[in-house]
Amino acid sequence: MKKFVLSNIYFGGDYTPEHFGKEVMEEDMRLMKKAGVNIATINVFSWGQLQPDEDTWTFEWLDEVMNTLAKNGISADLGTATASTPAWMAKKYPEILPIDKNGLLFYHGSRQTFNPNSPKYRELSKKLVRKIAERYKDHPALCMWHVNNELSHLVNYDFSEITIKKFQNWCKEKYGTCENLNNKWGLHFWGNNIYQWDELMPPMRTAHQVSTTLLLEWKRFTNECYMEVARDEIAILREVTPNVPITTNFLYEFKTLDYFAWADMIDFISVSSFPDPKTTTHPGEAALSHDFMRGLKDQPFVLLEQAPSQVNWRKVNVNKKPGVMRLWSYQGMAHGSDSFMFYQWRASVQGSEKFHSAIVPHIGENSRVFKEMTQFGRELPSLKEVLGSDVQADVAIVLDYNNWWTVEFTPGPTALLKYLENLQAYHYPLFEQNITTDIISYDRDMSKYKVVIAPLLYMVKPGFKESVEKFVSEGGTFITTFFSGVVDEMDRVFQGGFPGPLSDVLGLKVEEFEAMKPYINNSLVMNDKLPNVSGQFESRLWCDILQLGTAQSLAEYGSDFFKGTPALTVNNFGKGKAYYVATLPGNEFMRQFLRQVCAEKGVKPVLEATEKVEAVVRSNKDNEYLFVMNHNYEPVEVTLPDAEYFDLLTQTTMKGTIRLDAVQPVVLRKN
Ligand code: GAL
Repeated sequence: MKKFVLSNIYFGGDYTPEHFGKEVMEEDMRLMKKAGVNIATINVFSWGQLQPDEDTWTFEWLDEVMNTLAKNGISADLGTATASTPAWMAKKYPEILPIDKNGLLFYHGSRQTFNPNSPKYRELSKKLVRKIAERYKDHPALCMWHVNNELSHLVNYDFSEITIKKFQNWCKEKYGTCENLNNKWGLHFWGNNIYQWDELMPPMRTAHQVSTTLLLEWKRFTNECYMEVARDEIAILREVTPNVPITTNFLYEFKTLDYFAWADMIDFISVSSFPDPKTTTHPGEAALSHDFMRGLKDQPFVLLEQAPSQVNWRKVNVNKKPGVMRLWSYQGMAHGSDSFMFYQWRASVQGSEKFHSAIVPHIGENSRVFKEMTQFGRELPSLKEVLGSDVQADVAIVLDYNNWWTVEFTPGPTALLKYLENLQAYHYPLFEQNITTDIISYDRDMSKYKVVIAPLLYMVKPGFKESVEKFVSEGGTFITTFFSGVVDEMDRVFQGGFPGPLSDVLGLKVEEFEAMKPYINNSLVMNDKLPNVSGQFESRLWCDILQLGTAQSLAEYGSDFFKGTPALTVNNFGKGKAYYVATLPGNEFMRQFLRQVCAEKGVKPVLEATEKVEAVVRSNKDNEYLFVMNHNYEPVEVTLPDAEYFDLLTQTTMKGTIRLDAVQPVVLRKN
C-alpha cells in the first residue's frame, strides 16, 4: 500500500459559522489564531444551506467561509455535504428516504436520512459534489476532502423496494440459480427455499430467526452499497482535484461496515474517537481503537473527531478532567495519529448538540477547556518531526468483520459472546505490559510478526489455514481460542470436529463445548509444563472439551464433569508453536501467559510495566520517539531504558528515572 504522509500536524475542529453569523466569524479567526488552530472541518451537513430547492444554489456563504479561512492561514477539511439531505428532496423524491426492518419510513428532519441505493439520492449527491469540487478546486484553503460523514452510522440498513430488488439482483449475479443459493445458504431449513428471485427477502421483521448465511450476505451486500456511495463521490473528487487527499471518517466499535475493504479507496484513515472519560475507562480501549485504525492501512491515521471535554449522547456525559484531552491526544499520536481535530470548534446555541463540549464553550475563551486547547495547540509544531513515523509491533491480533458479525448474530451457544471483548482480553494484557500490537486483517502477510493471535476465529476463510501453517512452520507463534475454525465463509459448519482447517496446526479436535452462565466459573489449573506460569486461574464464559492429537496440555480444567481435561494446549508444528486457549481466562492468567509466549519469541516490552503507565515507540529512518503516558490521576516515577532522551514538549534532556505528573504525557526523541 502506498504510504501517504500529511504535510502538517493539523489541529482544529468542526466549524459551522453558518449557524452564528458574520461577526462571530471574525471573532473565531482571532480565537483560532490564538489557539494555534490550522484547520477547520466545514460543510459536512450543509446541503440544506447550499441548495434551497432543486434549481437554486447558494454558495456565497461558503465562499466567504473559505475565503476567510484562507485569509487567516487556516486550511479547510472540506465536507462534501452529502451527510444530510435538504427538506425539498424528501418532499419531491420520497424514494430517497430509507426504510427500516419493520417496513417503516425514516422521515426527513434529522441527518443521514437517505437510502444509499436510491438512484435519485445518488444522482443529486453526485451533482452536488461536482459543483463543490469545481467551485473550490483551486481554492487556497482546500487541503483535504471529507467524504459524507460516518457512513451508515445512523441508518445501518435500508429495506426499501429499491434495495430489496438490488439485493435480489446481487444474489442472482453471485449464485446464478435459486437452487444454488438454496444450497449455499441452507435454505431448506424450515422450508425457506426460494424458486424465483423475487421471493428472496432481506432479513426484515420475521416471526423467528432467519438463515444466518442470509444475514451474513446481507451485511456483505450492505457494506458494498455504502462503498458505492463513497466511491461515487471519490471518483468525482479524484477527477477534479487529483492532488487533494481524500478521507471519510470511520468509527471504532462500529461493525456494520467492513473498514478493511474501504481502506484502499481513501488516502488516509480518519476516525471519530470518543472513549468515555469516566475514570474507570481502561486506557487500553482507546489504544485498541488506534491500533485498529493504524492497521487498516498499516500507516499513520488522523484523529478527526475527539471531544474537547464531554459529549452529549451518553446517558450521563462526564467531562474530561484537566489534562485528559492532552493525554489522550498524545496517546493517539503514540499509536499513529498524525493530526488532532475535535468535534467541535464553537459550542452550538441551539439543537441537539448544544451541550456537547467545544473548543470554544458557551462562556468563551476565558475557560479551562479553551486554555487547555491553546496550550496543546501551541506545542504541536514542535512535534512535526514525528509526522509519518511508524509504530513497530512484533505481535499482531487478527480482526475480521465477517467473524465479528457472525459470532454475534448466530443463535447460541451464548448470547454473552462479544467479539471485541475477546480481542480486548488479549490486547489489554499486552497493552498493560507495554507490548505494542498491530491489528491486522485475516489475509495480511504474517511473516513480519513473531506472534499472531486470532481470538474467536469462528469463520475460517479460504487461504487462512495455509497462511497460518506457513507462518507457524517457519517459526512463528500462533494463538487461537475456543469457538474457532467452526464454519466456512458461508457460515457452514466444518464436519469432523472444530477447529476444522486449523486442527492440523493446533494438533487437536473439540469434542464438545459448554457455555457458562455469568455467575458460574471454572478454573484453569497449570501443570507446570509452561515455564513461569503456575497455579490456578479463573476461567469463564466457555469451556471446550478437547481430544488431543499431537498437542500437549499445559493446563487442565479444575471442575465440572470434564475436570482434569485440557484447557490450554500447545502444538509444535515445524519450527513454530500453535497455542489453543479453550476458555476465556481472567486477566491475570493472560498477562502471565502472554508475557511468557512473547518472551519465548524474544518480544520485549517497550518499558517495564508500571500500573497505568503506557509506553509506545514510533520511529523513522532518523529517529526513535518514545511516548510515555501516565494514565494515573497521581504522579508516578518511571525508569527510562538506558539512553539519553530529548523531550520534544519541554525541550529538555532526560535520562534515568523521571517523574510524570498526574495524566502527563512525554514525547522523547532518543539521542
Ligand atoms: C460524531 C459526528 C459529529 C457529531 C459528534 C458528536 O460521531 O460525526 O457530527 O455528532 O459525533 O460527538
